[in-house]
Amino acid sequence: MSASQQTLERSNKRLLKVLEKSVVERPPIWLMRQAGRYLPEYREVRKGAGSFLELCYNPKLAAEVTLQPLRRFNLDAAILFADILLIPDALGQKVSFQEGEGPVLECISSEAELAALSLDNISGHLAPVFETLDRLKSELPDHVALIGFAGSPWTVATYMVGGRGSPDQRAARIWAARDPAGFQSLINLVVDATVIYLREQVDAGAEVLQLFDSWAANMPTAEFERWVIAPTKQIVAALGKSHPGVPIIGFPRGAGPAIPGYIQGTGVAAVGLDTGVPRDWAVEHVQPLCPVQGNLDPFALVAGGEALEREARAILESFKGGGHIFNLGHGIVPETPPEHVADLVDLVTSWQG
Ligand code: CP3
Repeated sequence: MSASQQTLERSNKRLLKVLEKSVVERPPIWLMRQAGRYLPEYREVRKGAGSFLELCYNPKLAAEVTLQPLRRFNLDAAILFADILLIPDALGQKVSFQEGEGPVLECISSEAELAALSLDNISGHLAPVFETLDRLKSELPDHVALIGFAGSPWTVATYMVGGRGSPDQRAARIWAARDPAGFQSLINLVVDATVIYLREQVDAGAEVLQLFDSWAANMPTAEFERWVIAPTKQIVAALGKSHPGVPIIGFPRGAGPAIPGYIQGTGVAAVGLDTGVPRDWAVEHVQPLCPVQGNLDPFALVAGGEALEREARAILESFKGGGHIFNLGHGIVPETPPEHVADLVDLVTSWQG
């Protein structure tokens, strides 16, 4: 493909335009967890797929559930169907998803236990994910961008150390405080695995990458810099070297006033805003640095009607002066009526700022 064709192809995609800082007449929209249990057709595929991990590692079914929301809604991007915990799984840590309980991992609590993990089979283990992307590439409409993703090292490490989600990530926080050098070895391993994983995602067709740092809240400043900013910066720099021009969206959920420092310290192309970020503050302190994404309360989407319309319009109005990607402040929850998603997508795609 010639360079001019490539430009043409990219310029069809509203999400890529915003990430390249071009002006668009309305923001692109995609939704975190746009594939998932709120869709009856997802629940149907999920039932027949075996475990959740088996679904993630089945390219045909993973591509199918990635496409399901795009068949219903006029979204501007597809996000690869996978999970942030495929990295620990690929490193050799036992991961399972228990019905109604979420993920459960065999905990790692010391540097010695890291010896059991290895980078050797990352690519081989994750090959089905790359095949999912490869399938998607040819099936997406021209205007739809394909997003790949990974968890950020800190968030992935909180699961690897704690064995499950926790309100305060205490296991990882305590290890990091007690033995920073040992914990650094774990972070380094996850950084290396993530760089391999994301590079292959791009080679397989991902055009944009998102790093989910779901547990970036409430960190003391020095810890935030060491465990959130520094590893993210390493990943952004490594991808920038091997795959220049592929934008990375960072989502440091709950980071609040640390967000501007996160953008400057990591070099991400855009940043996800959780529901707690005040919009006026973000317009003044975040949007001048890079495009912003998100902020809509997933529970407004459950409520629907006027509550949803009011919130969605307020977000569109707030961010219309700069780079903006419409999204939620966290993922769609299972009790969300699909009709409300349709209403939201209609509202955003017909909005004329
Ligand atoms: O549509 C998409 O957004 C793409 C797929 C995707 C999933 N998980 C599918 C999934 C993405 C991008 C993720 C990211 C993810 N996974 C994060 C970061 C975002 C966030 O939510 O904070 C985290 C922390 C995980 C780890 C994880 N996976 C948890 C805590 C859970 C259990 C909670 C739950 O919602 O069940 C999962 C399971 C999971 N990942 C499901 C889906 C669709 C539901 C599992 C099922 O179908 O049974």
